[in-house]
Amino acid sequence: MKSTCCFLLCLSLLLSNGVFGEEAEEVSATMGESLTLHTGVKKEKDDKIFWFSGPDNKILARLNGKPDSAKIYRSDVSLNKENGSLTIQSVSSKDSGVLNVQILNVNKQPLYKKFNIIVYDPLPIPQITRISKCELLCSVLNVSRVTLSWYNGTSLISNTSASDSHIDLSLPLKLEDKNNIYSCVAHNSIRNQTKHLDPLQSAVDGCSPEPRNVILLLLPLSAVFLVIGF
Ligand SMILES: *[C@@H]1O[C@H](CO)[C@@H](O)[C@H](O)[C@H]1NC(C)=O
Ligand SMILES: *[C@@H]1O[C@H](CO)[C@@H](O)[C@H](O)[C@H]1NC(C)=O
Ligand SMILES: *[C@@H]1O[C@H](CO)[C@@H](O)[C@H](O)[C@H]1NC(C)=O
Ligand SMILES: *[C@@H]1O[C@H](CO)[C@@H](O)[C@H](O)[C@H]1NC(C)=O
Ligand SMILES: *[C@@H]1O[C@H](CO)[C@@H](O)[C@H](O)[C@H]1NC(C)=O
Repeated sequence: MKSTCCFLLCLSLLLSNGVFGEEAEEVSATMGESLTLHTGVKKEKDDKIFWFSGPDNKILARLNGKPDSAKIYRSDVSLNKENGSLTIQSVSSKDSGVLNVQILNVNKQPLYKKFNIIVYDPLPIPQITRISKCELLCSVLNVSRVTLSWYNGTSLISNTSASDSHIDLSLPLKLEDKNNIYSCVAHNSIRNQTKHLDPLQSAVDGCSPEPRNVILLLLPLSAVFLVIGF
């Protein structure tokens, strides 16, 4: 009796404080795509599973022990009755933030799990434009949390990043060796989009720092040394 009271008191304290485990699991999702969250434990018969969203713990879905007693509180979510996984059909910006799951069973310790959902925009394919004979510009418009990079083959040449606010991101490239294999890559923590440079765009003569120029610069110097030497 006493321990039951304590258990309920502890539970209500936990709930009122919104404490669902110490550390939130960070989950990345792309706007418009589906997202499935797992409870992280094998579902047992008689487990009651509750999914809540937001700082105010608004209930999203619940499973009341028996498999046929699932209840959904938002039309665009579904709950797997076998394992308790929650699926958001089409992630939107309002889904970013905290989502909690709580598993109750009279026979065991209650379990809480917290997710922190980070919603990413769909990642656009970068566009390459020429800004001068020997210089190209790679850009992606109106993006946040994206890094844009130029590669030669698999080696990174340069990069730049957008943080939380939406900006137009662009990165110039100085064409050098026309045998280089250039590509521009936009990536976030979910995926990447690559635009390969058309060989015709890089096949420009006279863009590399010609070794010939270096020799021409050094010639007068060596002439001076020659004069001094003799
Ligand atoms: C639960 O079932 C769903 C739908 O069948 C599946 O996508 C998901 O991977 C399952 N979760 C686990 C933890 O097995
Ligand atoms: C930039 O993207 C945001 C979020 O997708 C959108 O709300 C906004 O209208 C866009 N702005 C422009 C100028 O396209
Ligand atoms: C550029 O790439 C380097 C090496 O991968 C990385 O350490 C750095 O954080 C990146 N910088 C930006 C602005 O993304
Ligand atoms: C670009 O990559 C090619 C092939 O991997 C390599 O031969 C060349 O030296 C690289 N160019 C630069 C400028 O790093
Ligand atoms: C882009 O993603 C593909 C597959 O997801 C991966 O194989 C490739 O290494 C990634 N490229 C870069 C530059 O991150």
